[in-house]
Amino acid sequence: MIKKQTIFSAIQPSGELHIGNYLGALKNFVELQDKYECFFFIADYHSITENYNLKEKPKQIFDLALDFLAAGLDPKKCVIAVQSQIPEHTELAWILNTVTPISELQRMTQFKDKSQDQEKNINMGLFDYPVLQAADILMYKAYGVPVGQDQLQHIELTRKIARFFNNKFGKIFPEPKDIVTETPKIMSLTDPTKKMSKSHGPKSYIGINNEPEVIEKKIRKAISTTEYNKDIYSFYITLLEKFGSERNKKYFDKKFRSKDIKFSELKDALAEDIGNYFAPFRKKRKELEKNPEEVKKILNEGAEKARIIARETMREVKEKVGLVL
Ligand code: TRP
Repeated sequence: MIKKQTIFSAIQPSGELHIGNYLGALKNFVELQDKYECFFFIADYHSITENYNLKEKPKQIFDLALDFLAAGLDPKKCVIAVQSQIPEHTELAWILNTVTPISELQRMTQFKDKSQDQEKNINMGLFDYPVLQAADILMYKAYGVPVGQDQLQHIELTRKIARFFNNKFGKIFPEPKDIVTETPKIMSLTDPTKKMSKSHGPKSYIGINNEPEVIEKKIRKAISTTEYNKDIYSFYITLLEKFGSERNKKYFDKKFRSKDIKFSELKDALAEDIGNYFAPFRKKRKELEKNPEEVKKILNEGAEKARIIARETMREVKEKVGLVL
C-alpha cells in the first residue's frame, strides 16, 4: 500500500466559529480526512499570545473539540489533538528559533496587525508565533497545509525554516505546500466591505452553533438596500449559493438577475436555510456535549498518536543538532 501524504492544520480556540471559518477551514478538513493522513490540532499555545479571559480558555478548547467532531472530523480517520498536550511542539519551536533570523519574523504582517490590536501586550510569544506554527507543521513532516489567505506568509516562512534547518544540519524536513481553500469570502452582516469576523461584534456574524431563532434575528437586522448595490447583492448571493436550498437558490437567482429582490423575503428564506444547513451539526454537538468524558478521551488518544511521531521527530532533530551524547 502506498503511504498517504500528510496534512496538518490547526485552529486557535478563541471563541465560537462562524460560518466563514466553517467554509474556509472546517468543511475542508472534513473532506481531506478521507484522502490524506490528517492531523487537525487545537492551537491553544498560539491562542494565549492574544489577550484572553483565563476562565474561558478551557471551555474554548473544549468547544473547538466539539466543533471539530460535530462537523464530521472522525477520530478513526484523522488525529485530533490539543497542541499543548504534545510538549515536543514547544521543544521543536525552540530549536527552530535558533535557525530563524529575527528579520524574517519582523516582516510578518500578522504580527504587525496584532501588535496594533494589542498595543499593551506585544509579547515575545506573539512575535515567535510563526516559529511555533512551523514546528507544528514540520513535526509531522507535512506535505500540505490547508489554510486561508491570511496564513500564506506563515507557510512560506515554514518552508524557509525547513530549508535553513536542512542546510545547516542535514535534510530531514520536507517543504510543505499551502492548500488554499477556494471559497468566496463571507462578509460581515453589518458591513459588506469587511470580512466576517468575531472582532466586529456578535451582530456581525453567524456562529455555526447559533440556534435558528438567533440566526433569524441576526439576518433580519443585517444590511439591505432598496437600490442596486453590488456589495450587498453579492453578499446575499454568496450566502445563498453556499447554504441555500435548491428551491430558494433558483427562485432568488431569478429575482437577483431582474433586480427585483425583496430583502425581507430573502432574509426569511436564507435564515431558515442556514438554520437547516447546520441542524445536523447542532444535534451532534448537543449529544457530544452531554458526554465530556468521551470527548476528552478522543483528545487524549489523539495526543498519544501524535506523540509517537513527535518523539521520533525530536529524536532525529536532537541527533542532527548535536544534542545526543
Ligand atoms: N496560525 C493559525 C491561525 O491563526 C493556526 C495554526 C497554528 C496553524 N498552527 C498551525 C495553521 C499550523 C496551520 C498549520 O489560523
